[in-house]
Amino acid sequence: MKNFRIFSPETPEESSLEKRNRQLARDVASESIVLLKNDGVLPLKEKQVALYGAGARMTIRGGAGSGDMRERYSVNIEDGLLEAGFSITSQEWLSNFTNDYDQKFEERRVLIEDKVKDYTMENVLEMFEVIASVPLKYPIGSKITDSELPKNTKTAIYVVSRQAGEGHDRRLEPGDFLLDDVEIYNINKLSNHVEQLIIIINCGSMIDLTPLDNIKNIGAILFIGQGGTEGGNSLADILLGKTTPSAKLVDTWAHKYEDFPSHDTFSYMNGDLENENYYEGIYVGYRYFESFNITPRYEFGFGLSYTQFSHEIVSQKLNGTKLSLKVNVKNIGETYSGKETIQLYISKPGKIFESEKISLVSFGKTKELKPSETTELTLTFDMKDAALFDDSSSMWLLEKGIYELYLGNSSKNTKIVSQLRLARNVELEKVENTQSMEHSFKELSIGTPKESTDYSGTIHDINPEDFTFIKHQYGPYQPKPTAKVSEILDKLSIEDLVKLCVGGGQFEKYYNVTPGSVGSTTMDLIGKGVPNINMSDGPAGLNVLTETVITEDGTQLYLNKIPDSNNWGFIKDTAEYSIGTPDSGRPVYQFMTAWPAVVNQAQTWNPDLIEKVGLAIGEEMLSIGISLWLAPAINIHRNPLCGRNFEYYSEDPYLTGVMAAAVIRGVQSFDGIGVTLKHYCCNNQEDNRNNVSSNVSERALREIYLKAFRHVVQTEQPKTIMSSYNKVNGTHTANNYDLLTKVLRNEFGFDGVVMTDWHASGEGKASYELCQASGNDLIMPGFDAIKDALLNGLKTGIIPESAIKSSATSILNLIFSTVVSEGF
Ligand code: BGC
Repeated sequence: MKNFRIFSPETPEESSLEKRNRQLARDVASESIVLLKNDGVLPLKEKQVALYGAGARMTIRGGAGSGDMRERYSVNIEDGLLEAGFSITSQEWLSNFTNDYDQKFEERRVLIEDKVKDYTMENVLEMFEVIASVPLKYPIGSKITDSELPKNTKTAIYVVSRQAGEGHDRRLEPGDFLLDDVEIYNINKLSNHVEQLIIIINCGSMIDLTPLDNIKNIGAILFIGQGGTEGGNSLADILLGKTTPSAKLVDTWAHKYEDFPSHDTFSYMNGDLENENYYEGIYVGYRYFESFNITPRYEFGFGLSYTQFSHEIVSQKLNGTKLSLKVNVKNIGETYSGKETIQLYISKPGKIFESEKISLVSFGKTKELKPSETTELTLTFDMKDAALFDDSSSMWLLEKGIYELYLGNSSKNTKIVSQLRLARNVELEKVENTQSMEHSFKELSIGTPKESTDYSGTIHDINPEDFTFIKHQYGPYQPKPTAKVSEILDKLSIEDLVKLCVGGGQFEKYYNVTPGSVGSTTMDLIGKGVPNINMSDGPAGLNVLTETVITEDGTQLYLNKIPDSNNWGFIKDTAEYSIGTPDSGRPVYQFMTAWPAVVNQAQTWNPDLIEKVGLAIGEEMLSIGISLWLAPAINIHRNPLCGRNFEYYSEDPYLTGVMAAAVIRGVQSFDGIGVTLKHYCCNNQEDNRNNVSSNVSERALREIYLKAFRHVVQTEQPKTIMSSYNKVNGTHTANNYDLLTKVLRNEFGFDGVVMTDWHASGEGKASYELCQASGNDLIMPGFDAIKDALLNGLKTGIIPESAIKSSATSILNLIFSTVVSEGF
C-alpha cells in the first residue's frame, strides 16, 4: 500500500465546479442583502458614485477564526461597482485608507511577532493561542478632508465594516457595536456635500445606528452582512436593481444595546466571565421585544423591497393536528420583479403557563414575481410544535385555550388570520429533568395572564385525542455495528478501541490527505484496515489550504510561500522546513468557495436556495476527500455582542432549524460524506468560552437553545455533532451525560458520532475520562496523553468498557460509511 492518497486536483485551473459555485454564491449574497431604508434613492439611476468607509475596498467577506476561508479571490465593493460599470470619484480617500489599513495590519503583525518570537514547533499550539489573544480591530480610516470630497457627484456610499470571530465577544465601544466618531464625522460631512447618501453595513451582526437618525440625506441603508467571495458583485446587482432585495432580518435590531434583556450581564459586561445567567429565560430576541412592548428599530423578519406585495389567505385546512394555509401573494408594484416572504406566528393561550407573545411557526418565500404576477404559497405547521415545556412536571404540553395565528411579512406587520381552540390541556411528551440549577436566579416573567382578543374570523377546533403521547426509555446508547464493522471489531483489542476514540494529531502524516483539513480520525489503526477520515471547517465553506505540495514521504509543504493568513508564518525559520516547490512532490490545489456568512444565508429565508449551497459544498468535499464538514453551527443569537453570531443563523430557533436542515439536506444527499452539527449547546458567548457556565432553566434550554438541534437531528440525522466548549449549569457539555445521552440519544434519537470541540478537554477544562463516560465519542484533536488517560479511566472504573465499545462502534460505522474508506 502506498503511504498516502490524495483526491484534490494537481493543477490550479479554475474548474467548472468553482465557476458554477461562484455564480451560486453571488445569487445567495444578493438574496441575503437586507434593505433597511429606502427613500426612493435605490435602485440607483446613475453610475457615478463616491465610495468611502473601511469596507469600500477592504470589504469583509466573512468572519474570523475557524469560520474564515482561503479562496482564490473575492470581489470587494469597489471592484464589484467598477465591474458593473460605475465610476468612482473618491479615489484619493480610498488610497489613503489603503495605506492606513496596511499600516495597522503591519503594527499588529509586529506586535504578534514580538509576542511569539521564542516559540518553536514544540509549543506551536500555545503559540496559536497567543496569536488568537491579539484581537483584530478593523481599521476605520481617517476623517475625509475637503480635498477628498467628491466633485460633481450626487451620490455617496459609506461602508461601515466590523470584524468578529472566535474567542472574543464584540465590544460595546466605538468602532465595534457603536459608530466611531470618525465615521459619524465622515457621514455628516458627506451628507452636507452630496444630494444622497447610502449607508452600507458590512458586519456579521448589528450595530447601533442611533447617530444616523440626526443626519440628513441618508436615502438608503443596506445591511449586507458578510457576503462571501462575490459580495461586491452582489451589492452592485442590488444597487442597480438587477436584483430586487428580498432578504429579511433574522434578528431584532434594537434602538440601543440596552434594550436587549441580557445587555448588562452578557459576557464581560458585568465582569463575571465564569457564570452567564440566562435571566431572560425564553424571552430571547423578538419574543422579548414583543412580550414586553419594547419597540425595536427594525423588527425580526423585516426587510424592504423595490416593489410591493399583497397577500390573502385562500384556504385554511386543519388535518388532525396539522394546519395548512394557502396564501396568494401578488406583486402589486408596476416596475420591479421581486420575491416576498410570508411569515406565520402563533400566540399561545398564556393563562396558566406564561408564554411569549408570538413565535414563528412557519414561513414561505415566493419565486421571483413579475409586476402583477400572483403565486400561491402553502404554509404548514403541526400544533405539537407549539408546545411549551413545563419545568415543574418535566412535560411538553399544550395549554388549553385559544391559540391565535398571525400572518404577515415581518414579526410586527401581521394580522390575525385564525384561532385554534383546544378544550383541555394536552400532555405530549414526558422527559427526565436534566438540569439542576446550580445558580438559582429569578427568571424574567410577564407576571400577568395574557388578555383575550376580540375575534370573529375563522376558528378551528383541535381534537385533543389527535395527539400522540411520547414517553422515553432512558439508558446507555448502544449503536448497531454494520456487518463490515462487526468483522473489524472482532479483531480490535480494547486498546485499539481507545485509539479510535481519540482523534489524530494536528501534525501527523495521514493516509487520506487533504492539506489544511483541521482534524482527522486516528491513523493508529491503518495497519488493521481502518483508514483516517478528514474534517474541514466551517460554516462559510471548506476552509482548507489552497496551494501545497506533498512530498514522497507524505510531508505537507506550502507551495512557494506561507499564506498570509497562516499563523504558522510567525515561527522563526519556518520556511526551511515548511515551504516546497512543485518539484518537491505532488502539488495540491484546493480553491473552495467562500460562501456568504451563515447570517446572510439565513437572511435569504430561502431553504431551497440554501439546500443548493449544501449540494455545492458536498461536491467540493468529494473533490478534495473531505468526509466531514464541521458545520452548520446553530447556536442562538442570544445577544448581539457574541463574537460568533456571523456563523450562527438567528435569534429564532425555528428559523435556525429549518435553514440548517436545508444545508445538511444538500450535503448529506451525497452518500459517503456528512456534516458536524455544532456547538451542542449554549455556546452563546466567546469570552472565556472554555469555562463559562451557561446557567439556564430547563424550559429555556429546551424551548430556545435545544429546539433547532432537535429539529435538525430528527429531520436530517447529521452524521456527527460537536459538543461545545462551555459548561451548562456547571457541567462541561462534553462531560454532560444528561445532555449527550439522555437528551441527544434517548430523546432526540441521534444515531451518529459526538465529538468534542478542538482542545475542549484537558487540564482545567472538560475531563477526558468523563467525555467517554458521558457519551462524547471522539476527543479532538488527539495525542498520546489522552489515550493514556482513557486507559486509566477504564482501569479505575470511571469509564465503563461498554462506553468505549459504543463510541468505537459509532466511529467505525462513520468511517466505513465514507467514500474515502471505499476499498478498505
Ligand atoms: C471551533 C470549532 C471548529 C474547531 C476546528 C474550534 O475552535 O470552535 O467551531 O470547528 O475549532 O477548527
